[in-house]
Amino acid sequence: MDKKIVIAIDGFSSCGKSTFAKAIAKRLGYLYIDSGAMYRVVTLELLRRGLIKDGVVDTSMLQSILKEINIGFSYDPVKMVYLTTLNGEVVEDEIRSPQVANHVSLVAAIPAVRTRLVELQRELGKKKGIVMDGRDIGTVVFPNAELKIFMTADPIVRARRRLKELQEKGLNVTLDEVLKNIEERDYIDQNRDVAPLRKADDAVVLDNTNMTVEEQMEWVEEMVKRLTV
Ligand code: CDP
Ligand code: CDP
Repeated sequence: MDKKIVIAIDGFSSCGKSTFAKAIAKRLGYLYIDSGAMYRVVTLELLRRGLIKDGVVDTSMLQSILKEINIGFSYDPVKMVYLTTLNGEVVEDEIRSPQVANHVSLVAAIPAVRTRLVELQRELGKKKGIVMDGRDIGTVVFPNAELKIFMTADPIVRARRRLKELQEKGLNVTLDEVLKNIEERDYIDQNRDVAPLRKADDAVVLDNTNMTVEEQMEWVEEMVKRLTV
């Protein structure tokens, strides 16, 4: 049987990490874990409780909230995808809303949030045969991952891709708004004190500005083959 490995995918916002990670997981029969969804769930919970106001997070109840909430992924056999859950409720659409997108990097910069979510991510990824994407997977969560990929693409191309996706969901947003959110999140993610977004020294860079998803798959296939045989 092929050897099972851990594949860590990090990179900038909206460059296609999850599309790529899901495709690899499907091809290899691995478990895909979207670490960004977990930061989005915590953000949603804080917004629902009214604990984020004017760009400031009220952290007084944070420790108990982090202990209480149950973040999970439930399999939808019809769509054949994992849907993110918060205390058992599917929140997949809500966590992708512009409101969550506009606050998630703020929440993800809080050390207590990162400590708890990294713990959960390591727990979820205990068995090998996983693909996890995020910002600090190759640097912090799984520094010993056998394959680390650092993804990037031109910001305007990323914004156009994300805009298309949001418009298909019926959301009324402009290219400028999406681009602004992407640039803001990239800035916060790269400049925070704890686990900032950066390429792990042993990560391979994949710039997919001019690549289709299929071309990316061809690119990675050889690499995975070498590591798993
Ligand atoms: O899908 P997109 O690239 O827009 O973002 P995401 O992967 O859903 O992550 C949302 C936000 O969560 C990021 O902008 C980061 O602020 C944070 N995040 C993080 O700090 N560390 C991770 N491992 C994953 C996400
Ligand atoms: O996970 P991340 O935020 O990095 O990106 P994503 O959600 O996988 O991809 C953002 C959008 O770009 C999706 O609508 C993908 O279908 C699209 N995409 C693309 O058009 N071409 C690629 N090579 C990769 C992703």
